[in-house]
Amino acid sequence: MLLSLTNSCRYSGTFSVEVSLKVLGIMGSPRIKGNTDLLLDEAFRGAESQGAETEKIVVDRLNIAPCKEYYGCLKDGNCVIRDDMDGIYPKLLDADIVIVASPMFFYSLSAQVKALIDRCQALWARRYILKQTPPNSARKGALIGVAATQGKQLFDGSILTVKYFFQAIGVRYADELLIRGVDKKGEIKEHPTALSDALELGKRLAQG
Ligand SMILES: Cc1cc2nc3c(=O)[nH]c(=O)nc-3n(C[C@H](O)[C@H](O)[C@H](O)COP(=O)(O)O)c2cc1C
Repeated sequence: MLLSLTNSCRYSGTFSVEVSLKVLGIMGSPRIKGNTDLLLDEAFRGAESQGAETEKIVVDRLNIAPCKEYYGCLKDGNCVIRDDMDGIYPKLLDADIVIVASPMFFYSLSAQVKALIDRCQALWARRYILKQTPPNSARKGALIGVAATQGKQLFDGSILTVKYFFQAIGVRYADELLIRGVDKKGEIKEHPTALSDALELGKRLAQG
């Protein structure tokens, strides 16, 4: 993204600053280099080809407790639990693009991703209880989902959850890539279109 700024203090002309879009990927599979992880990597490659910066959160490697309904967040928008979510809240608020990538587990997001999302009740409280405006209104996000079977409603629950999550953190649900019929680790490489579709998704998101 090219941003033109005018410095009115000491210089009367205009100058340009390159500002890279920040893409945050939430990788929800416990399998590193599994199907979800490979799809997210391709989406990152697509976004990077458009000049974006990417950062992956491997949720399974972090210590994230599930929400305990202490409701401290209703007072000041901060969760009272101290764990790896402390480092994730600022990243979620700072990213220009958020990608949630998850295998479907029992027609839903993985428990790892769901724990992270539930802990964003603190950000929901900032927005809807404390009436704080999310940082940047142009933020957008996408869901990458992968599942073994062909069920028609495989992704319905996850789409609803991710839309509601994005709403809480001030991100528009802008895109999705939903892949059926892929089960074994790395089997996504044999899928005829999934990896190139992920690359294109990353490009689209970063193109604005
Ligand atoms: C606990 C568990 C639950 C699963 N539930 C479903 C399901 O409801 N529907 C489905 O199509 N696949 C289901 N699967 C299969 C995974 O979605 C599939 O293997 C996926 O490709 C795994 O992606 P990954 O390599 O990124 O972990 C399940 C797998 C596990 C381990």
